[in-house]
Amino acid sequence: MTDRSMLRVLNGERVDPPPVWIMRQAGRYLPEYRQLRAQAKDFMSFCYSPALATEAVLQPLRRFDLDAAILFSDILVIPDALGHKVWFVEGEGPRLEPLLDQATWSIGAADHVVTRLAPVYETVQRIRAALPDQITLIGFAGGPWTVATYMIQGEGGEKDRCRRAAYERPADVDSLLSVLVEATAQHLAAQVAAGADCLQIFESWSEGLPEPLFERVILNPTRALVDRLRALGVTVPVIGFPRGAGALLGRYARETGVNALGVDTQTPAAFARAQAPDGMPLQGNLDPQLLICGGPALEAGARHVIESFRGSPHIFNLGHGITPQTPPEHLAALVNVIKGR
Ligand code: CP3
Repeated sequence: MTDRSMLRVLNGERVDPPPVWIMRQAGRYLPEYRQLRAQAKDFMSFCYSPALATEAVLQPLRRFDLDAAILFSDILVIPDALGHKVWFVEGEGPRLEPLLDQATWSIGAADHVVTRLAPVYETVQRIRAALPDQITLIGFAGGPWTVATYMIQGEGGEKDRCRRAAYERPADVDSLLSVLVEATAQHLAAQVAAGADCLQIFESWSEGLPEPLFERVILNPTRALVDRLRALGVTVPVIGFPRGAGALLGRYARETGVNALGVDTQTPAAFARAQAPDGMPLQGNLDPQLLICGGPALEAGARHVIESFRGSPHIFNLGHGITPQTPPEHLAALVNVIKGR
C-alpha cells in the first residue's frame, strides 16, 4: 500500500501533522507558471494542452512539500464541451454567451462531453505517471449550480439575475441543472478512470440562497451527482466545497452524500464539525490574505487552523484560492509551520 496521507484522512484517519494542499496551488503567484502560461494562445488552450497542464501541476510540487496535486483545468470546461464557448477577458475573468439573452435555452447534450474533454483525461494520466507514489491526485469539477450561474449570466459577479431566473424560469433552470449533473458525473468518472485518487466539487456560489432554493439548486443536484457517480462505479472519496453555505452547511454535509467537507474561511471548524456527520473529514480553512501577509500573523493563523480542526480528520488548505499577489516564500514558510520544521 502506498502511503497517500490525504487519502488516509479521507478514509477517516486523523493524521498529525495534517496533509496539506492549497487551492489554486498551480497559478499566477508562481513566476514559472506565468512563463508557462505565456506559451498558450489563451487560457482554455492551456487547459486543453496535456503537456502544458501537466507541467503546471508539477511546478508547485517542485518547490513545496505538498501532499496532493490537483488536476490543472477549470470548472468551465464543461460548458465549453457542451458547446457554450468560454473565453477569458484578461484581468476580468471568464465570459460565455449568457443564456439569459435567449428566449429558449438550448443546452448541449451531456453525451459528447467526455469525448470533447479527452485531452483533460490524458493530462490526468500524464500527471499520475509523473507523480511520486505518496502524492494524492485530486480530480475536480464545479458544482452544477456554480457552473449554471456562469452559463446563465455569462460572467461571474453578482448572482441576483441567476436567482431570479431560478424563480421565474424554473423549468429552464432545472433542466440546465440536470444536464450539468449528467455531464459532470461523466467528466468526474473519466478523471477517476484516468488515475484521480479522489474528487472535489467546487460549489463556489453557495452563498446567499434561501433554504428552499438552496435545496432545489444545490442539495438536490449535488445528491443526484454523487448518486450518479456511484452508479457509474466510482468509489473514490468525494470532497464537497460549498463556499458560503453558512447556516446550510450542515444540510449539505448530511444530505448530499459527499464524504468530506471543504470549509470556507469564515466558517469555524467547531461549527463545521458539529453540523457534519460524526467523524467526517474536514478540509480548510486558512485565510488566503494571511498568505500575502506572511510573518507572525501567518504563523499564528496556521496554528489556529491546526488547533481548531484537531478534533476531526483534517486536511490543511485555505478557505479559498491562493491569490496572484502571494509571495511564494510565504507558502514555503506555511508548509514548514504545518510540518513542524
Ligand atoms: O486549484 C488549482 O490549482 C487547479 C486548477 C483550477 C483552476 N480553476 C485554474 C485556473 C481550479 C480548481 C479552478 C476552479 C475554478 N474556476 C472555480 C472554483 C474555485 C473558486 O475559485 O471559487 C471557478 C469559480 C472558476 C472559474 C474561473 N476560472 C475564474 C473565476 C477564473 C479567474 C479569472 C481571473 O483572471 O482571475 C478562472 C481562471 C483560472 N482558472 C486561472 C487558473 C490558474 C487563472 C487564469 C490565468 O492563468 O490566466
